[in-house]
Amino acid sequence: MAAPAQPRDAYADLVRTVPGAAVARRLGLPRPAVLRRHTPGAPLLPGPALVVTAGSGPSAFRTREAGGALASLLRRAGAQVQAEPADDGQRLGAVVVDATGATRVGDLAALGLALGPAVRRLAPSARLLVVGRTPAAGGSADDVEAAGVQQGLEGLVRTAGKELRAGATANLLRLAPGAGPAELEGPLRFLASARSAFVDGQVVEVSAAPGPVEQQHARPLEGALAVVTGAARGIGRATAQVLARQGAHVVAVDVPAASGDLARTANGVRGQALALDVTAADAPARLVEHLQRSLAGRRLVVVHNAGITRDRLLVNLDAARWEAVLGVNLAAPLRLTEALLEAGLVGDGARVVGVSSTSGLAGNRGQANYAASKAGVAGVVRALAPRLAQVGATANAVAPGFIETEMTARIPPVLRQLGRRTASLQQGGQPVDVAEAVAWLAEPASAGVTGQVVRVCGQALVGA
Ligand SMILES: NC(=O)c1ccc[n+]([C@@H]2O[C@H](COP(=O)([O-])OP(=O)(O)OC[C@H]3O[C@@H](n4cnc5c(N)ncnc54)[C@H](O)[C@@H]3O)[C@@H](O)[C@H]2O)c1
Repeated sequence: MAAPAQPRDAYADLVRTVPGAAVARRLGLPRPAVLRRHTPGAPLLPGPALVVTAGSGPSAFRTREAGGALASLLRRAGAQVQAEPADDGQRLGAVVVDATGATRVGDLAALGLALGPAVRRLAPSARLLVVGRTPAAGGSADDVEAAGVQQGLEGLVRTAGKELRAGATANLLRLAPGAGPAELEGPLRFLASARSAFVDGQVVEVSAAPGPVEQQHARPLEGALAVVTGAARGIGRATAQVLARQGAHVVAVDVPAASGDLARTANGVRGQALALDVTAADAPARLVEHLQRSLAGRRLVVVHNAGITRDRLLVNLDAARWEAVLGVNLAAPLRLTEALLEAGLVGDGARVVGVSSTSGLAGNRGQANYAASKAGVAGVVRALAPRLAQVGATANAVAPGFIETEMTARIPPVLRQLGRRTASLQQGGQPVDVAEAVAWLAEPASAGVTGQVVRVCGQALVGA
């Protein structure tokens, strides 16, 4: 049996032809860019990175050379770095801003004015990355102003995301007290790279990691065993593939009825298939038993990806639809995680990744049950994070927006077009885009990222 064909965006295909592009340009219609995605051996960025320091206060990096720490992290990742805007006509691959010292209202305007000319020089699929800091909790007038200014960065970055074109993205990393270059390196690399093609307009908090943050960046998941539920197709299959590419041994889980596709996923990644309905009464015990046999001292990564929809307006939602959706999307991840914790399988360096949804964050007509379950996933990872920190593990979620899968292929055509075109990137994402974000959260270098919900939505209008 052949694998199901990847659903296609016929409009995007059309406006990427020469006559299609001409018509779209004339009518002012969206022309979604072809996004730069991960290709082995390709450079980190599509051009040099300009590093800018903003703010009248001290940088969190305490380096004498302005932006020095960011520049060296970027160089280590293979980027060519410019400390001053060069007048060579070359397109920039990224503008990276150290705004940790932005504390005064005037700093926002100064940053905005400095960014204007730099943003004009961005290459297709370039990155605007701003590094700020979590505002101090103090109540002095200076602290309050600094908190306002740091929050102001969010509005600036999210707006830039909406204005950038040609596949460029804008994201904000916020350093919590005690976090520094070690915790920042992994998140910075991911958001700079082509792996974050569909992550746009996001704010990611980076906290101090409990121990040293070390990883070999070529295959960061070497020595990890990753369980992926719902891995027979769609986002789950792509996640299994990317986790394996990054070095993990994968246990692919899906319902027994999908065992043909599940075997294809597992074989394709040289992993194991585990036919298991995650809502079955014995699912936690069976997963624990399987892992007790196969974990073999490896670091555990669990991706709760299995999910279903049973859409109806709230007034028409019956008990069966509520129970089915909450059972798969929320109750199962809760039960499985608890069982893994109780069995002592979630240890140092373990990663729990939930799959939420922008529908959960914003609400979505006809999806009260689904939105409740997916907002629930966000609540679960936030509550789990401090508990897992005690054992050196993290819990986070990704919240996909419109992703081209069999799930979204069932959406009526007009709504499907709207879902795609109302994102800043003017298109739906690919399953691999969500998979890349999951794999990043699973890395050792993501030790400072916990309790976060990272949207992978091309900055969809919908959602927080
Ligand atoms: N596609 C999107 O646009 C989108 C957007 C937001 C969130 N998500 C979420 O991403 C995840 C994957 O979505 P997808 O589009 O790939 O969906 P999909 O329907 O293509 O795949 C879901 C997989 O989960 C499996 N599954 C369902 N119930 C299960 C159970 N009880 N036990 C084990 N496996 C089970 C299915 O058999 C299927 O293989 C879901 O949690 C979904 O809610 C998807």
